[in-house]
Amino acid sequence: MFAASRIQTRAFSASARQLTKVSVLGAAGGIGQPLSLLLKLNPRVSELALYDIRGAPGVGADLSHINTKSTVKGYEPTASGLADALKGSEIVLIPAGVPRKPGMTRDDLFNTNASIVRDLAKACAESCPEANILVISNPVNSTVPIVSEIFKKAGVYNPKRLFGVTTLDVVRASRFVSEIKGTDPKDENITVVGGHSGVTIVPLFSQSKHSELSKNEQLIHRVQFGGDEVVKAKDGAGSATLSMAMAGARMAESLLRAAQGEKGVIEPTFVDSPLYKDQGIDFFASKVELGPNGVEKIYPVGPIDEVEQKLLDACLVDLKKNIQKGKDFVAANP
Ligand code: NAD
Ligand code: LMR
Repeated sequence: MFAASRIQTRAFSASARQLTKVSVLGAAGGIGQPLSLLLKLNPRVSELALYDIRGAPGVGADLSHINTKSTVKGYEPTASGLADALKGSEIVLIPAGVPRKPGMTRDDLFNTNASIVRDLAKACAESCPEANILVISNPVNSTVPIVSEIFKKAGVYNPKRLFGVTTLDVVRASRFVSEIKGTDPKDENITVVGGHSGVTIVPLFSQSKHSELSKNEQLIHRVQFGGDEVVKAKDGAGSATLSMAMAGARMAESLLRAAQGEKGVIEPTFVDSPLYKDQGIDFFASKVELGPNGVEKIYPVGPIDEVEQKLLDACLVDLKKNIQKGKDFVAANP
């Protein structure tokens, strides 16, 4: 009897592990569509829920014809549609909000995107308080604190489950280095710490195979302002969408691998971090080991050279202001 129930439990947990609902908020947008496509192709995802203020049912119908096992549904832009999309989600990716146009900083998006992210965070706190929340909407340095404040207010904040997606900075750094060195980008593992805008993006080339690159100002600038390159090239039609979709799908995949028992899954990501709390900086991106409970271990920045120390000092100044701006917004606009 005991043995039978143990077998049953094991069978249950095996199938439970395969039932992974992932939702995308802003799913009909420039990032949302290719991101949803990549998630539809991911065998670890069993149910894909798509929500947007416009167009999600159409994107859902389109993706639902792809012959992979997962089910897909696009939800109507109503409070109950949003709640239904979120219920039971293990991962919620949020690329909802406006993108930059040439001449804008990410902070210029704050006025529009802060309230979008706040309202979506409220819905998540209500319908899927235990989900991993992956914030893509800019300015990430401020939108992540907004989500944490909303979850705190609702009494459901779990710092291990909130992630600002900075994966694109890591993806870019590895690609740009491979272009200089003539190598395969998959072999170029570059740690990027700090935040996700301009000088808050701090690549640590001294920790890579090519430590001399930490003196390459052009390369550092390219990683810090890679987003601007795309905004300029798109000439008013938005910012990075396809590379971002790949980066968001990679981050979701890493979380799913870790949730499904794989050890040693590490991604740099912007999380509630002890590293600079003594300086009043509650969030910081560094290498994070992921596990079944979300954040498993936050790695310190590690040894860096003088140039990188200067970059880090500049990062912390801006980061502190960006984080405070998010917190102040929720205090003034609960
Ligand atoms: P987009 O305008 O193409 O798509 C945004 C989508 O969000 C639209 O479909 C829109 O209808 C939807 N939306 C707006 N308000 C919503 C709400 N309240 N609920 C649900 N959906 C809503 O923009 P995009 O190019 O996909 O970019 C989205 C965001 O991602 C921007 O803020 C952009 O700056 C940011 N971004 C972040 C990174 C990163 O590395 N973290 C990279 C690229 C872009
Ligand atoms: C990026 O890094 O590409 C995104 O944050 C979008 C932007 O505004 O640059």
